[in-house]
Amino acid sequence: MKPPKSKNKPQARPDAPISRQQLIANLNEDLAREYQAIIAYVVYSQVLKGAQYMAIAAELEVHAGVELAHALLISKQIDFLGGTPTVQPKPVKLSDKPEALLRFDLQNEIDTIRNYRERVRQCEALNEFAMAEHIREILKDEQEHAIDLATALGEDVPKIQR
Ligand SMILES: [Fe+2]
Ligand SMILES: [Fe+2]
Repeated sequence: MKPPKSKNKPQARPDAPISRQQLIANLNEDLAREYQAIIAYVVYSQVLKGAQYMAIAAELEVHAGVELAHALLISKQIDFLGGTPTVQPKPVKLSDKPEALLRFDLQNEIDTIRNYRERVRQCEALNEFAMAEHIREILKDEQEHAIDLATALGEDVPKIQR
């Protein structure tokens, strides 16, 4: 006799190993976020106005170059896995309020950090240890970016929930 069917569908556990196809899809989301960061930093570094924002504006120019290096690295990982890197950035917000621009950047960095932490676990679940190492290196930069932005806003980096 067949066992009775469970009413509840089994839920995917957060730590359940994922497929390589899913990892490629997730890395493409990461790449779209890197493009978003490049565009945001290129534009925000120029449109930030006000004497108190000049130091952070110069810092944002530096971030733009770092995000480009991340995009290249993530694109390389996608190609390595047999995928095609996306050409679509996530949308970039604009505001005429300098503080709003810094908040958009900070929120994006927080989202990026949360996603890369997850990506390290997923790479390791698939035995992609070198890839996990590359993403850890990127994570260091993103955490620096979040600190720079929070400091410019006169705040601490908010706690990042899993
Ligand atoms: Fe990045
Ligand atoms: Fe960043």
